[in-house]
Amino acid sequence: MSQNIQTLQKEDRVFHPSPEFSARAHVKSMEEYEELYKRSIEDPEAWWSSQASKLVWQRPWDTVLDWSNAPFAQWFLGGKINASENCLDRHVREGHGDRVAIHWVGEPGDTRSLTYADLLRETSRFANALKARGIKAGDRVLIYMPMVPEAAIAMLACARIGAIHSVVFGGFSASSIKDRLEDSEATAIITADGGWRRGSVVPLKANVDEALAAGCSVDTVFVLNRCGNEVTMVEGRDLWWSDAIDGVSDDCPAEGFDSEHPLFILYTSGSTGKPKGVLHATGGFLTGAYSTFYYIFDHQPDDIFWCTADVGWVTGHSYIVYGPMSCGATQIMYEGAPNTPDWGRFWEIIEEYKVTVFYTAPTAIRAFIKAGDSFIDQHDLSSLRLLGSVGEPINPEAWMWYREKIGGGRCPIVDTWWQTETGTIMISPIPGATPTIPGTATRPFFGIDAAVLSADGNECGPNEGGMLVIRKPWPSMLRTIYKDPERFKKTYWGEYEGIYVAGDGSRVDPSGNFWIVGRLDDVLNVSGHRLGTAEIESALVSHSAVAEAAVVGRPDDLKGQAVVAFVTLKAGYQHGPELAKELKIHVGHEIGAIARPDDIRFSQLLPKTRSGKIMRRLLKEIVSKGEVHGDTSTLEDFTALAALQKED
Ligand code: WTA
Repeated sequence: MSQNIQTLQKEDRVFHPSPEFSARAHVKSMEEYEELYKRSIEDPEAWWSSQASKLVWQRPWDTVLDWSNAPFAQWFLGGKINASENCLDRHVREGHGDRVAIHWVGEPGDTRSLTYADLLRETSRFANALKARGIKAGDRVLIYMPMVPEAAIAMLACARIGAIHSVVFGGFSASSIKDRLEDSEATAIITADGGWRRGSVVPLKANVDEALAAGCSVDTVFVLNRCGNEVTMVEGRDLWWSDAIDGVSDDCPAEGFDSEHPLFILYTSGSTGKPKGVLHATGGFLTGAYSTFYYIFDHQPDDIFWCTADVGWVTGHSYIVYGPMSCGATQIMYEGAPNTPDWGRFWEIIEEYKVTVFYTAPTAIRAFIKAGDSFIDQHDLSSLRLLGSVGEPINPEAWMWYREKIGGGRCPIVDTWWQTETGTIMISPIPGATPTIPGTATRPFFGIDAAVLSADGNECGPNEGGMLVIRKPWPSMLRTIYKDPERFKKTYWGEYEGIYVAGDGSRVDPSGNFWIVGRLDDVLNVSGHRLGTAEIESALVSHSAVAEAAVVGRPDDLKGQAVVAFVTLKAGYQHGPELAKELKIHVGHEIGAIARPDDIRFSQLLPKTRSGKIMRRLLKEIVSKGEVHGDTSTLEDFTALAALQKED
């Protein structure tokens, strides 16, 4: 596979952090980074214990790492910790109860500011409400919320009592909720009547009702009143958030749980039709979230941090909830879309709250470029001191625009590479130290032994493309795939003994910078969101007209990748624009709007190898270049190629 990875990018613009930035930063020079990195890799256990010891533990650990049952790691064994205590009680105890934790901005323009003392009180109260409904440590709780402070409160309340939260992105459909409920066997759901998105209400509670219609393990649904839209409440099962906390004590002692106690399950797309439940453990995850937030966002007490992700994705878990809050940061949380009421919304918020550190995705940056500079020029962005990017490779033009237009040429950019599975950032500049170059995530974080290997397991030479791997365990690594340890072993550890395979292609330049090329498996990255081609295919074949489907990605200027579906129909069905439209809507209903194919192309047959495997490589070439190159001799049916036609 690796020899197919072409790396033709050439980039020689290098940007060093300004002396003023470095002077104030936690790591002030590349020499300091190199020295710290070297030590952290020589003795990762010493490094990670130094980081874990910055957290509050109710009982210290006895063993830093047990890797004897690899790839099932255990970190900080014997230690007892409560994630909610670290994110809330600790700051109040240390005298920072009045510090604002969240400046929240609703899409319609309503605002709220909650201090750490407020968050502690609300979280404790809601944790008691969870307990009152019989929810206890180890139980799974599904969270399906808009971007409101209660989403973070719900997560922290679960963590406080040891319940395992599983957040489902509010853009996912009822079927997606149902799949995740079935797999996690959650007994409770926390949702809202609706959430605002581009001026309309997303009917969250109605989607939950639809997911629950077939019956399942859920006996409690908490419903936050956010939009006031009409909802149906089921007697005995559904209760309003406000009623659930009414008269409930705000004292809920934070019990210490084993370091390895699961903190959350987050479902993510893989190369099969079934999303994987990525499981993270409390002590290790929190250590990674704390440490990366502190160093990579160079956290300073007077920062106003803003991560624009949704809590439904891992970025929201690590860099809205657990990272910033364990560091006691003040942050912005925004409910709505970047273009509501217009493309100036983000810049208006940055100006108003004097945001200092801003973390967003390349797809958003490209959309801002397209919208035009006029939305930016009216706003004062001089409070910004650091910018971040996550979710997909950032193209150098977007990087340069981000630096000049948003960062005023003065803010370092941290291009952060990581995954739901890695839990926290793995490769990124350290902003006061690392020289940055547009398009590279630069160097591994402390304690992270990243490398690029060829198919035979040897380390690739400079600029040679191969598979991105991590050779040593790290605390925030996923512990398993929920209820499927075999899939965990096979997916990430099957290629090389004891080495984590990320599924991304990469190369390392002669200066040691990692250039991430993109996924090597059948996972697409659409607007920074992971989508499994197999998931979209199974959604398509669940439609009565579809016999077979193959989904591939096509390069797209705005979204990074667009979804193209090749579809063969069952006898008696007629292809045409109407059906294409219906299939797109069907996928939206089965998974969520983000998975809706951009193009549907009908075909009489799909090109296959003699063993019956769909030849995706050919389909990818057809959609990206419009013609086929390379060897087609293994095609079962050559006419299938000629018969592919665009119908959209
Ligand atoms: C991609 C998101 C290039 C990559 C945190 C990875 C990136 C997948 C970057 C994980 C980056 C993420 N440069 N590619 N800075 N960050 N990716 O699980 O393909 O939603 O494997 O986690 O996004 O997506 P996930």
